[in-house]
Amino acid sequence: MKIYDIITKKKQGLNLSQEEINFFIDGYMNKSIESYQASALLMAICLRGMSEDETYFLTQAMLNSGESVDLSRFSTFSVDKHSTGGVGDKTTLIVAPIVACLGGKVAKMSGRGLGFTGGTVDKLESLTGYKSQLDPEEFLTQVDKIGVCVIGQSANLAPADKKLYALRDVTATIDSIPLIASSIMSKKLASGSHNIVLDVKCGSGAFMKTSDDAALLAKEMIKIGKSFGRRVRALVTNMDIPLGWAVGNRTEVWEAIQVLSGKGEKRLTELCVALATSMVALSLNIDTGLANSMVSDAISSGKALSKLREWIECQGGDASFIDDADKLILSNYKTEYTANKDGYISKMIADQIGFASMHLGGGRAKLDDEIDYTAGIIFHKSYGDYVKRGEVIATMYSAKNEFSECIATLDNAISVTDTKPSEATLIFDIL
Ligand code: URA
Repeated sequence: MKIYDIITKKKQGLNLSQEEINFFIDGYMNKSIESYQASALLMAICLRGMSEDETYFLTQAMLNSGESVDLSRFSTFSVDKHSTGGVGDKTTLIVAPIVACLGGKVAKMSGRGLGFTGGTVDKLESLTGYKSQLDPEEFLTQVDKIGVCVIGQSANLAPADKKLYALRDVTATIDSIPLIASSIMSKKLASGSHNIVLDVKCGSGAFMKTSDDAALLAKEMIKIGKSFGRRVRALVTNMDIPLGWAVGNRTEVWEAIQVLSGKGEKRLTELCVALATSMVALSLNIDTGLANSMVSDAISSGKALSKLREWIECQGGDASFIDDADKLILSNYKTEYTANKDGYISKMIADQIGFASMHLGGGRAKLDDEIDYTAGIIFHKSYGDYVKRGEVIATMYSAKNEFSECIATLDNAISVTDTKPSEATLIFDIL
């Protein structure tokens, strides 16, 4: 078999066999296939697509390139959630304790943030003492004991995806539905949960710009999951505007506490309830209506907030902020972003707001950049709200007294107009 012939075949729009796909993944991993050849094949896949079978074979080859976590001790109660990325997405911090206090087993590995998107592990590590690296037995024992453990993504899970993703990132080959679906699902399958809930984002702050494309991606991932015997549900949700009030790291933990205390922003709370409902319905194998009322009760009774405290303490983190969340929004410097005219907030471009927080130190431009955990933005006004000239729209927090780049980026991201914008849909579809 020759990689040249495989590239040619895909360039002509023909389907690759399982042997050819395995040859590509094995060869790229053992370095007998060069990056420039892998790039050519990835570009041909981007342009020509992949059949359902090819996507399944690619997922399987990437899954088999590394280890898988064995969660069989949790029977069918294990449940994972994946978001395709976004700005202000702190949903894991909220749904994981809700699901765990209702009996689901959340054994989760999460990633770090890059560019305008934040990472769950960074948010957790912003809490003094939180251990995001545990050995496998510690990880599983914690899930057994309290129902939840969240650690950093292991490099041994689907390493072929890691290597290919880095190549796709620099060769303009990210935006292909079969490549994204196989990439995400190879990692989710390797993470071992029996039930998987996918939050597939669409809009300016997401890979998929339209809800139709996001639904296609969701359907592809559901098909893959089912082929591997997992139960999968997907929500197609809006990422045109940031999720909730806060963007950053500690700022987002602050907001998670607001939601778990029943004082959260409406859209964020609604999305978390919908995600947690799907996770509970799948993992406990119960009806969605019942799951929904159990989730609402977990928040209103304070049980989910207590579970958050137990989780953070179990992983060595300082949970005292739960009684005094405002401790999480202390920084060396802060300044206010105000409206320059009267009117309605009619635009809040998610990716630009993510970059604004990055300028404060709240995100990474490069993988090895250090994060300022105190940096971030809290909005006091939301999309569609009326503001008066000079009224505070947001507070910016940072360790450095340098706000001009953030302000310039917010100026581009936010528009105030005379007419009220139409309401932004939150959940387009549940599949
Ligand atoms: N996230 C992933 O893990 N893989 C992709 O291809 C895109 C987003």
